[in-house]
Amino acid sequence: MNRPENTPENPDNPENKETPLRRAVCPGSFDPITNGHLDIVARASRLYDSVYVAVLVNKSKKGLFSVEERISLIEECTAEFGNVTVESFHGLLVDYCKQREIPAIVKGLRAVSDFDYELQMAQMNHGLSGVETLFIPTNPVYSFLSSSLVKEVAAWGGDVSHLVPEPVVRELAAKLDRH
Ligand code: PNS
Repeated sequence: MNRPENTPENPDNPENKETPLRRAVCPGSFDPITNGHLDIVARASRLYDSVYVAVLVNKSKKGLFSVEERISLIEECTAEFGNVTVESFHGLLVDYCKQREIPAIVKGLRAVSDFDYELQMAQMNHGLSGVETLFIPTNPVYSFLSSSLVKEVAAWGGDVSHLVPEPVVRELAAKLDRH
């Protein structure tokens, strides 16, 4: 039997059927982005057509980096992936997902200690809106890594160049020099 021809006029051609974009969000504070975060975003960007990195605006918590600085750093670090959009959000993550028609949240799990709270959030988010949460096990090389530890080590002059992307090393040095 002949296979249907691959022409745009042929409705049997699977390439003519519109497939919805598969979108996911990697949410967080990213103050600043670490190699652990970047590893998760990179892996999500290979699984989904379009990945949103959503930076939480938390008015009650002053970070080392402003939200604009965090976004700009993440953009610089993820530009090579080609399918990553970086934005801020405030309020509920599920509302952001609804606005952007994002059905999936992607989170990294560093250790069992992350699991309790992450599971609660995943169940709450699913109950609120049906948004699914997918967990990616963090590369064990980064299982101890957090933005808070990076800031503490850098503030006391420790070397963090193996823990954060180069643009963050640069901006940490510039910021901590000014204080
Ligand atoms: O990097 P963080 O600080 O661990 O990220 C936590 C974040 C931003 C993913 C989480 O606090 C969040 O989703 N905040 C938005 C408010 C919200 O939706 N709260 C209900 C969670 S069940």
